Amino acid sequence: MIIGVPKEIKTNENRVALTPAGALEFSKRKHTVYVQSTAGEGSGFDDDEYEAAGAKIMSTIEEVYAVAEMIIKVKEPIEQEWPLIKPDQLLFTYFHFASYEPLTEAMIKSKAICLAYETVELSDGSLPLLIPMSEVAGRMAIQEGAKYLEKPVKGRGVLLGGVPGVAPGKVLVLGGGIVGTQAAKMAAGLGAEVSILDINLPRLRYLSEVMPPNVNTIFSNEYTIRKMIRDHDLVIGAVLIPGTKAPKLITADMLQTMRPGTVLVDVAVDQGGCFETTHPTTHDNPTYIIDHVVHYCVANMPGAVPATSTLALTNATLPYALQLANKGWKQACQDNLPLRKGLNVVSGKVVYQGVADAFNLDYTNVEDVIV
Ligand SMILES: NC(=O)c1ccc[n+]([C@@H]2O[C@H](COP(=O)([O-])OP(=O)(O)OC[C@H]3O[C@@H](n4cnc5c(N)ncnc54)[C@H](O)[C@@H]3O)[C@@H](O)[C@H]2O)c1
Repeated sequence: MIIGVPKEIKTNENRVALTPAGALEFSKRKHTVYVQSTAGEGSGFDDDEYEAAGAKIMSTIEEVYAVAEMIIKVKEPIEQEWPLIKPDQLLFTYFHFASYEPLTEAMIKSKAICLAYETVELSDGSLPLLIPMSEVAGRMAIQEGAKYLEKPVKGRGVLLGGVPGVAPGKVLVLGGGIVGTQAAKMAAGLGAEVSILDINLPRLRYLSEVMPPNVNTIFSNEYTIRKMIRDHDLVIGAVLIPGTKAPKLITADMLQTMRPGTVLVDVAVDQGGCFETTHPTTHDNPTYIIDHVVHYCVANMPGAVPATSTLALTNATLPYALQLANKGWKQACQDNLPLRKGLNVVSGKVVYQGVADAFNLDYTNVEDVIV
């Protein structure tokens, strides 16, 4: 198969969908890989490394789209890429269709095959191509939170680990899923006193077994949250109720009960946020202050650490991309149910129920398009 890897052109996106190591795997299997020049630059890979791994470098995005049977990307195609997409071309990338109707309409019109990373789903309901980014964001949440606790950036001036003779900082993690678990581990590693709250008791039991001694597990409810935010330095929002907006666990009135300089990091901002005062921010201007409480609400946290995020993402996507190249998308989706769940739009038909529901579009059963 002919595979194309365009350079990401969405603002501040420095990840790339294929590493030189991935290019080598395709080359070994006699596939042809075209990489747009400097596509890997933001993640630390130069054109020579791709060429050494068997890929060919193309100078423009137009050339890559024109030649490729399968395009692998990171972010959804943005408007200027839409006219480049060809009928029957396979696009394997994040799409997040339900959040943007014009993209959905454009992909229907293109008659391309759109396989979305975010809906590839294993039999236990987990989302293997979203997990790596949650892991990155969870770990980063503590790094960012620790930074904004410093006094010059209006934080409380607390060192999370404390020092001998001085108590450590206190970290409250709301939600004990992927993001929350990684955040709690990082905070614990720094020596902070950590509490992780969830409403899922089996999950709390598991966390209580695997977490270090400086992490407490606590059942989440409004009473407990109101009480705990009064003396915690850093609060991480990491809750998710699949398919709906995040619940507002910290309401605007609660900010007045926190100590000035408390830092809130709302990782769940991409689902509307779990603090009432959350609004999305960017890496250029990541924080704002309300009632002396610092808010960090960057919607694409992994974008700030592309060298790590690219490897984390491609470790997860490459095995699927290889199956698609080896077998063609139809056979690969017939053989692999998780991959089949990634199909969202196929040759002008919406085959993912959630996307059809979001915009009141006709839905076609995915089984009908893979025969
Ligand atoms: N900002 C970013 O860059 C970024 C990056 C990755 C993920 N995210 C977002 O982070 C959020 C968390 O992702 P995840 O992968 O950890 O999800 P997850 O499903 O693994 O975990 C969510 C947890 O929240 C718990 N929960 C639900 N309601 C709760 C409540 N009322 N109180 C306490 N806990 C509650 C669930 O039981 C679950 O354990 C998602 O919204 C995801 O989209 C954001």
